[in-house]
Amino acid sequence: MESHQDILKQAQEKVLAALSPAALKEIEREFLGKQGAVAGLLASIPSLPAVQRRDVGKNANLLKKAIQQALAERGEALAATSLSAERKGEGFDPSLPPASLMTGSLHPITQVTRELEDLFLSMGYSVIDGPEVELDWFNFEALNIGRDHPARDSQDTFYCDEAGKFSLRPHTSPVQVRAMEKLEPPFRVVAPGRCFRNESTDASHEHTFHQMEGLVVGKDISVGHLIGAMKTLLRGIFHRDVEVRLRPGHFPFVEPGFELDARCPFCNAGCSVCGRTTWIELLPCGLVHPKVLQMSGIDPEVWSGFAFGLGLSRLVMLRYGIDDIRHLLGGDLRFLEQF
Ligand code: PHE
Repeated sequence: MESHQDILKQAQEKVLAALSPAALKEIEREFLGKQGAVAGLLASIPSLPAVQRRDVGKNANLLKKAIQQALAERGEALAATSLSAERKGEGFDPSLPPASLMTGSLHPITQVTRELEDLFLSMGYSVIDGPEVELDWFNFEALNIGRDHPARDSQDTFYCDEAGKFSLRPHTSPVQVRAMEKLEPPFRVVAPGRCFRNESTDASHEHTFHQMEGLVVGKDISVGHLIGAMKTLLRGIFHRDVEVRLRPGHFPFVEPGFELDARCPFCNAGCSVCGRTTWIELLPCGLVHPKVLQMSGIDPEVWSGFAFGLGLSRLVMLRYGIDDIRHLLGGDLRFLEQF
């Protein structure tokens, strides 16, 4: 059997010749691993005469320590050389062009949402949030849309349970109800967010889209307040005064209910965006139905309010001239990289 000295000498020579941390690992395995020379020495102890055992064991341990120390010293030396090489700039070519940085950008819906939030905050509104999976009560019942109301058809959505207690919200109006149940009037809130409908998709219909709900509850709120607020909103969006008109519109939770159209900001005499009419249908709205106020615990004899449901997806399409709503959430980088 090789003596301790021989093994140590061999190990030290190999360690000094090693040029990389990987080579050191290999040497460590060879000498100190389970099948290594030191393990061999220790394994031989039981078969030795009793008088030798102590010394052989002790020397094996010393040998192990000496090899470990040689490995550690060489490891430090190697690290120091590579660091100083790096410091001297070896292997670095400052004339090479830098690796390009891939930076993302905010989705156009996020950009427009944030812009509108700022605008509404400046008008004294709070920005609130509500769940996307919603109870039937908030989605429909408390908005005056009972089980068999025909408005459930145009708002058909994705149901999450057999009993129809939970569904994906088909509009942001349930957040109105949550706000009325929670807040003490007077208050002004907007609630931007994702909505879902069970729809056949085409260039202007998508199963997932974005709205921004608005609700103002106060004393003696009238259609005049509603029109004023909407004109301020449109001035903020299009950076100039925009003419508006109201047409009657039916939504069970407002009375009276309107469709607010804006004069087409892109033409004077009709274009493809406004379908040659010079008017763009932009914003369903109305005065909150007294029954809806009452159901949410607000006394309609004292309080009144207006509500609107701004189509964020539609607004983004108008703003950027996007002709197909399916681009918005399609996830195609060729589309997204333009913003
Ligand atoms: N929630 C209605 C919809 O999505 C829009 C709306 C909101 C109408 C607020 C009136 C008032 O169709």
